[in-house]
Amino acid sequence: MEIRFAGQRPADADVLGFIVTKSSWDGFVFPLESSDAAHATAKVARFEGAAGQSFLYFAQEGGKTIRIVLLAVAEGDAGDYQKAGGELIAKVQTSGAKSVVLHAENLSAKAAAETAYGATLRNWRIDKYRTKLSETSKPSVTSLTVVGAPAEFTTLWPSYAAIADGVALTKELVSEPANIIYPESFVERCQHLADLGVEITVLDDTEMAKLGMGALLGVAQGSRKPARMLVMKWDGTGGAQEKPVVFVGKGVTFDTGGISIKPAAGMEDMKWDMGGAGAVAGTMKALAGRKAKAYVVGVCGLVENMPDGNAQRPGDVVTSMNGQTIEVINTDAEGRLVLCDALHWAQETYNPDTIIDLATLTGAIIISLGKEHAGLFSNDDGLAAKLAAAGIATGDKLWRMPIGPAYDKLIDSPIADIKNVGPRDAGSITAAQFLGRFIKDGVKWAHLDIAGTVWADKDGPTWAKGATGYGVKLLDRFVADNYEG
Ligand code: BES
Ligand code: MN
Ligand code: ZN
Repeated sequence: MEIRFAGQRPADADVLGFIVTKSSWDGFVFPLESSDAAHATAKVARFEGAAGQSFLYFAQEGGKTIRIVLLAVAEGDAGDYQKAGGELIAKVQTSGAKSVVLHAENLSAKAAAETAYGATLRNWRIDKYRTKLSETSKPSVTSLTVVGAPAEFTTLWPSYAAIADGVALTKELVSEPANIIYPESFVERCQHLADLGVEITVLDDTEMAKLGMGALLGVAQGSRKPARMLVMKWDGTGGAQEKPVVFVGKGVTFDTGGISIKPAAGMEDMKWDMGGAGAVAGTMKALAGRKAKAYVVGVCGLVENMPDGNAQRPGDVVTSMNGQTIEVINTDAEGRLVLCDALHWAQETYNPDTIIDLATLTGAIIISLGKEHAGLFSNDDGLAAKLAAAGIATGDKLWRMPIGPAYDKLIDSPIADIKNVGPRDAGSITAAQFLGRFIKDGVKWAHLDIAGTVWADKDGPTWAKGATGYGVKLLDRFVADNYEG
C-alpha cells in the first residue's frame, strides 16, 4: 500500500476516512455532497464521536457508490490516531476498494502521520503460502492518500515509514515457519539491512566454539541446522557516541524443548521463539531506515532446539563463554543458555554501559501478565523507568517484575556454578536471575520477557492476528528519547 500526500481528493477514491473528536463532531462539516446526510446516517448508527467509535456506511458521491468511514479519537492522543488508521484499513482491506483517502484537513501533520502509520502497520499480512485465496478475500487496497494535511506531513512521514518497515521485517521473521527461517536463513533475511548502512557480521558455529560458547552451542548440538550469531551495527553519530547501546535477542528458530520435549499440542507456536531476535533485527532496520543519530548494536543468538542422538541431556554440565559452568536440568530452558553467551560476548566486544535483552523466555510470564504487558526485569531503576515510558508512549507495554538475592539462590547447582532452572515458583524471575549472573558489574541491564506479546490469536489495533511486531516501536522510541538528544 502506497502512502500519498495530496491537496485535493483524487477522483478515483473508493473510501473516504474522516477522523473526529467528541468536541469537533457536532459541528463537523463533511466535504461531501450532503454533510447533513452524513450526520443523519451517523445518528442512526449511534455514532457520537466518542473516542474509539468507528462506523462505515455506503453513500452516493459524484455519481458513484463509495464507502465512508468515520473514526473518533481523543484529541492529540497519538495511539488513538494509530488505532483509527488501523481500523480504517481493517474495515476495507479486502473490500474490493483500491484507493483509500484520509481526509486530513482537520488534522495536524503529526496526527495525519500517526494515522497513516497505524494504517500501514495494520495493513501488513502474510499471504505467500495461501495459493487458493479467492479473489474476493485478497487484499484490494493499493493506496492511502492523505488529503489536506499540513505540508509538514511530508517531512514527518519518512521516519514513520522506516519504523513501519522495521515492524514489517519483525512480523515476517516471526510468521515464517521454522523450515523456512532457521539460523542461516534468518541471517540471509537480514542481509538487506546492509543497504541501509548497517554493518553486518556473522559468527558461525566454529568461531563460537573457539570463543568457548558452550552454553549456546549445547542447545544447537541437537539440530542439523548450525547456529549463528548475527551482529548488526548502526552508528548514526559519526563516532560521537563512544559506546553503543546493545540489544540482544533470543533467536530460537524452533523450540521443541529438546530431550525435555514439549507436549505436541500447540508446539507449532514455537516457530515464534525467535521473537526477541526478530524484534532486534526489526529495530535495527527502523533505526537505520530513519538514520537515527545514535550508536546501536543488535545481537541475535540463533539456534534450533531439537531432540536428537547428539542433543544435550538433562544433567549435562556445559561451560559458558565467561567460564561459568551450568547444569542443564531441563533442555527446554534453552533460551537463557543461548542468551548468556550472547550477552557475555556482547559485553566483551562492545563494553556497553547499557544492554537490553528481549526473549520469549518463559511461559510463566504469560501466567503473570497475560498478553497486555511484557515483563521488565532490570538492575537499574533509571533504565527501567525509561523503558517503561517508551512502552507507554508506543503501546508496546512493559510491567516491572522484581529480582534479588532471594530469587538468585534458587538457581544454585549442587554440581556446577548454576543450574538452568529453579523450582516451579517464580519461573520468570529465576530465568531473569540466570541472565543476571552474566552481566558485568556496573553495566545497566534490562531483560524483557516477551513470550506473551509476540503473537496474538486475535486482531489488534496495529496487527492482524499472528505476529504483532512487538518490541520495534518500543526500542526505537527508547533510542530516540534517550540517545538522540
Ligand atoms: N520458549 C519457551 C517459553 C515460551 C512458552 C514462550 C510458551 C512462549 C510460549 C522457553 O524456552 C521454555 O520452554 N521455557 C520453559 C522453562 C521451564 C522449562 C523452566 C517454560 O516456560 O515452560
Ligand atoms: Mn524451551
Ligand atoms: Zn524457548
